[in-house]
Amino acid sequence: MSERFKAPRGTFDVLPDEQPVRQLIEDSARELLEAAGYGRIDSPIFEETALFERGVGGSTEIVQKQMFTFEDQGGRSLTLRPEGTAGVCRAYLEHGMHKLPQPVKLWYSGPFFRHERPQAGRFRQFSQVGAEAMGSDSPLVDAELIVLLHDLLTELGVEGLELRIGSLGTAEARAAYLEQLRGYLRENEGELAREVRERIDANPLRAFDSADERTAGVMEGAPKLLDQLDPADAEHFEQVRGLLDRAGIAYRVEPTLVRGLDYYTRTVFEFHCDRLGAQSQVGGGGRYDELVEQLGGPATPAAGWAIGVDRIALALGRPAEPERAGVFIVADDRERERALSLAIELRRAGLRAELDLAGRAFKGQMKQADRSGARHAVILDSEGTRLRDLDSGEQRQVDPGALIEELGA
Ligand code: HAM
Repeated sequence: MSERFKAPRGTFDVLPDEQPVRQLIEDSARELLEAAGYGRIDSPIFEETALFERGVGGSTEIVQKQMFTFEDQGGRSLTLRPEGTAGVCRAYLEHGMHKLPQPVKLWYSGPFFRHERPQAGRFRQFSQVGAEAMGSDSPLVDAELIVLLHDLLTELGVEGLELRIGSLGTAEARAAYLEQLRGYLRENEGELAREVRERIDANPLRAFDSADERTAGVMEGAPKLLDQLDPADAEHFEQVRGLLDRAGIAYRVEPTLVRGLDYYTRTVFEFHCDRLGAQSQVGGGGRYDELVEQLGGPATPAAGWAIGVDRIALALGRPAEPERAGVFIVADDRERERALSLAIELRRAGLRAELDLAGRAFKGQMKQADRSGARHAVILDSEGTRLRDLDSGEQRQVDPGALIEELGA
């Protein structure tokens, strides 16, 4: 016998009974974002590799280790998108959206790909819904985005949420700070875990994330970027915080919040859910005032976020069984063709309708009717047409011509 195929490592199938919760997440996001003036954008699943190298940043783990990159038949290097922001910025420029009234507000939903070590809540293909507001540096944008994300997660019923916020300042201020941090790490090199020592040059900020106890001890005394913001950045952050206070949103300021993407400037934030174990971040984002310019466009301050749909689905579990709806047509052998015609007619009238397609006997069809989630069974046999309420078991003769009306369609 030949070997059976399996979904590739770190990927999974979403089966029909797992769809409702995911649909709910996307529908809620769409409603909330469109009510705030965000329009949907779909960009390609793959982009030129250089877009992510330049956009996400050459020193990030995403670019160094996690991209699914391939060469097409024409010798071009393409990459399955590991995140959505770089592609949205590319589209913003390609379609001249920088000439529209600003900010331009866009949202998206779809699959993303990162070659990470799979574990609970961490996959190689995963789904995000994201929002990007491009063309304004107002703290109102940051606050509005955070409130939208908060309201979305709350409305969905995600429990045990914590909002963490920080500010990174400008790239310039960050570069100066990173030099200072490297100096501090080198002074204390003897106390640091090996993987931290090895990354002093490439990514000193990661030291704040180290699980190693001695390293954590050293990092307590390390200089913090948040304490060294330029006055304008500090003021911006204070305004964002003031707006969140005003909106009644609780948050924790995390002076060392590090995100895995290089493009952030000023505000950064993450929502964590304490029911999820190690992969607790259900959504995150921030401001990226220099990215559009880095991709060859005009100076365009912008901010956004993305949620992990799979993680939120895990946190929510299975939603309550939906109410029974529609009909299941049960027919004896002579009435099978009429059953199909009736199903078609009922569907065209806007009702949910199913019929037996496996040649089951009457009893088997009744069982199937019950399992199908239908509200009524329509029974077609030598006695005519009967309507059975599948909750109460009540059954009565009906006029086939009046069925649609009876069913309230
Ligand atoms: P990110 O924090 O890398 O940000 O990803 C956003 C969310 O996607 C995470 O909070 C997490 O829930 C989910 N996620 C990320 N990687 C995985 C994975 N391997 N498996 C399952 N879920 C995952 C971004 O991608 C930015 N583009 C967000 C943004 C938009 N910033 C500004 N605008």
